Amino acid sequence: MNEVNFGMRMVDLIIKKRDKGELSKKEIEFIIKGYTNKTIPDYQMSALLMAIYFNGMNDQEATNLALEMMHSGDVFNLAAIKGVKIDKHSTGGVGDKVTLVLGPLMAACGAKFAKMSGRGLGHTGGTLDKLESINKFNIEMTEKAFIEQVNKIGLAVIGQSENITPADKLLYALRDVTGTVASIPLIAASIMSKKLASGSDAICLDIKVGSGAFMTTIKEARKLAELMVSIGKLANKKVSAIITNMDEPLGYNIGNALEVKEAIAALKGEGPEDLKIVVYEIAKQLLKAANIADDDNYEQLLDQKITSGEALEKLVLMVKAQGGDHKQILNPELLPQANKIIPFQASKTGYIEKMNTENIGIAASLLGAGRETILDEIDMAVGLEFKKKIGDYVKKGDVICYLHANEKGIDSALAILADAITIGPRKNKVNLIEGVVL
Ligand code: URA
Repeated sequence: MNEVNFGMRMVDLIIKKRDKGELSKKEIEFIIKGYTNKTIPDYQMSALLMAIYFNGMNDQEATNLALEMMHSGDVFNLAAIKGVKIDKHSTGGVGDKVTLVLGPLMAACGAKFAKMSGRGLGHTGGTLDKLESINKFNIEMTEKAFIEQVNKIGLAVIGQSENITPADKLLYALRDVTGTVASIPLIAASIMSKKLASGSDAICLDIKVGSGAFMTTIKEARKLAELMVSIGKLANKKVSAIITNMDEPLGYNIGNALEVKEAIAALKGEGPEDLKIVVYEIAKQLLKAANIADDDNYEQLLDQKITSGEALEKLVLMVKAQGGDHKQILNPELLPQANKIIPFQASKTGYIEKMNTENIGIAASLLGAGRETILDEIDMAVGLEFKKKIGDYVKKGDVICYLHANEKGIDSALAILADAITIGPRKNKVNLIEGVVL
């Protein structure tokens, strides 16, 4: 990377942001290049991040930050894929297997679903881990092979290349240890830098809000959604966002192979209703962006692709193309299975009033479904299979969920669940789609 100086001093830019000034495009370029090539030290970058945390950034600054971070590494050029390339991104949730259903469904509708996914960390799951519960499924591919696969079957889901947005990797690590992760412009620029670098034409963002999400209030979630849509538009992409509720897990299953099984059921039209609602809402936005369907006919098209078996067939084709064992898709009983199935029962009679979804994610993680550090190994077979959702009536002793467990974490998971699920007299209802930002 070339040295850039522009006669600027980092200290002046920290002071400018401290005093609520606006950073110019050149100044943001200076900061990101300087931090990536290590001419700006961590202590100055930390001070700037804290100033941004308190004083924010306007849309133009956040866009310039996203674009500069995007250009810090590889930028995929997907021009060789015919048609509108579509992508989606979730800000992270519990039981969120939307990509596993949406991707094959979009390909069956004739769209080009070209996605780079991430791994789970903490209480949230990641699509790559879920896909790797399929024997020998390969998430690494060259740009050329990725393009060829999407042209041939309409979809591919791979990991991010090593050299995508290195500036974001460095900054995220610094934010993590300086109390500056929870800044809306920094989150928006971080996510959008990666989305823009992965080269698709249209993106639908799924902003999760609630007890299992990064954003816990609708106000914050809407602000983040609006900023990300604005960044995408200023970068000439078709971007939409939906805000979806994460006050309970999405669907019934949490854990890698368990979620693949639920996604397969959804592709056969036998999945949970809440998962279908989220998939269909994102599908609507993407099919409109790709000029394949509109508000009046998208639902019919999606239903038809499921009942005809074409959507499930696309998942089988993707698994085959990426080296995985497609027999596990045709017969999900062949996916990894845990040794023990342990019921978690209602301690009293009443309605399921509330779920602490973050803690439910942690319970699954303690069984081995997730990692505490990036180096931890995942147990693909374990997790939670819920039988009840918020608003359901339970009698004392009824099974609320089953733990699919091997040796690890059973007692701690049971203790966390006892605390995470509230039973009481109120029949609450979750409002799944909290908003759409276009
Ligand atoms: N996810 C990201 O990729 N970046 C953030 O800053 C937050 C969540």
